[in-house]
Amino acid sequence: MPVVYKKAPGKIILFGEHAVVYGKPAIAIPVKNVSATARIIPDISSKPGHIHIQAQDIQLDSDYSDLAEDHPLSAAIRLTLQKVSPVHIPSFTVQISSTIPISAGLGSGAAVSIALIRVLSSFLGSPLPTEEVSNLAYEVEKIHHGTPSGIDNTVIAYEKPVYFRRGKPIQILKVKSPTCWVIADSGEKTPTYETVSAVREKHIANPEKYNAIFQDIGDITRRAKTALIQGEFTALGQLMNENQSLLEKLDVSSPMLNTLIASARSAGASGAKLSGGGRGGNMIALVPISKVHHVEQTLKDAGAKHVISTTLTEVHDR
Ligand code: MEV
Repeated sequence: MPVVYKKAPGKIILFGEHAVVYGKPAIAIPVKNVSATARIIPDISSKPGHIHIQAQDIQLDSDYSDLAEDHPLSAAIRLTLQKVSPVHIPSFTVQISSTIPISAGLGSGAAVSIALIRVLSSFLGSPLPTEEVSNLAYEVEKIHHGTPSGIDNTVIAYEKPVYFRRGKPIQILKVKSPTCWVIADSGEKTPTYETVSAVREKHIANPEKYNAIFQDIGDITRRAKTALIQGEFTALGQLMNENQSLLEKLDVSSPMLNTLIASARSAGASGAKLSGGGRGGNMIALVPISKVHHVEQTLKDAGAKHVISTTLTEVHDR
């Protein structure tokens, strides 16, 4: 039996984080310069059904049967086995590795789940369709952070820019002109469930105020969808800045993120904002191609731990 492997990209949210948890739209794109990989190595020396997991990045080397049920890797394997219901499970080792920074808003958890679900279902002879892969990864995401909107698993499973609204069919965005995005890591790590819970508490305490903020973020995201498709970069950058002001009102920015955002804008970015859960993690800037290197260097000088750039090009029909 051959070794099989699958990769899943990272993701970045362009507009609408947090408000998307409350039913508003959000826009996210895959980040293909980073990825999670799941590799299966058949093990003919062990008895059938024996599954071993190795994930060096998190110092994990354990039998599947010894992992807690709510461990995300265990949950991804269990859900896939339930879905595929194979008559026979050969013995194998699954190795997980990832170049996606953890707790940084780049979807590392969802990418690992998706790579794992894909490789396991393929290894068992029943590769799952993208929608099923995304749905299973969503179930695992619930273990990661309680009330996920589903945007992370969706954009990573489809590997396309998406306009996402909870419970609605996803829309793949077909952009007319390429855009360059510079992503900088603040080096501060805050798990998404923490910021999502903090926003939830504020919303419970003052629903009127926070519903109005979510509404405004939703309006910005709708306008951003048109600007992105039409290639209206000045408008898009302005909308990013407006989205950032509202995220600051949600209290999910941080002094370091604010410094990086201000540096990117002063170095020529058309707009900049935090991305993902916030209070650390990454910020993202929309940058004219001629200024990408200058913005990257400015962000490094301002203290960014990692800087990556990605280009969103024309997207054709699936
Ligand atoms: C996380 O990437 C984005 C949040 O909106 C949470 C979610 O959508 O589940 C903060």
